[in-house]
Amino acid sequence: MKISIGSDHAGLPLKREIVNYLNDKGYETNDIGTFTEESCDYPDYALKVAENVKNKNCDFGILICGTGIGISIAANKVPGIRAALCSDTFSAHACREHNNANILALGQRVVGTGVALDIVDTFLKSKFQGGRHEKRLAKVAEIEAKYYK
Ligand code: RB5
Repeated sequence: MKISIGSDHAGLPLKREIVNYLNDKGYETNDIGTFTEESCDYPDYALKVAENVKNKNCDFGILICGTGIGISIAANKVPGIRAALCSDTFSAHACREHNNANILALGQRVVGTGVALDIVDTFLKSKFQGGRHEKRLAKVAEIEAKYYK
C-alpha cells in the first residue's frame, strides 16, 4: 500500500515520526514535504497529497498541520477527496467504514505521537462498509458536481 504524506512546518515533527513508522511497517511512503522548519502554507501540501490520491498515484494520503483543520479544509476542495480530521481512534475507523475517507488529517498541536500512530494504524487497517453508506457518499458527490463545473 502506498501512502502520500505531507505537512506544513507546524506538522513536520509528527510527519517525520509517521514516515519512519510506516516505513518500518513495510508501507511505501511518498513524502511530498515540507522538509524544513521554515514557515510555509498548508494548502500547497494539501494539494500535492490530494492530487496523488485523486490521480491514484497513491492509495491513501496523510496530512498534518498544527490543528489538522486548515490542511483538511484545503484537501477537501479537490473533487473526489474525502479528508477526515481525526483525534481519536473511533473516528479513525468510522471515517473509513462509513465515509470511505481517503485522506487522514492530523493536528500535531492536538494529538501526541502515540495517539497519532494508533490513529494511523486504525485508519489504514479499516475498510469501507459500503451498503447504506454508498448512497450517502453519492449525495456528497452530487453536491460536488453541482458546484464544480
Ligand atoms: C500554522 O501556524 C497553522 O496555522 C497551521 O499549521 C494550521 O494549524 C492551520 O489550520
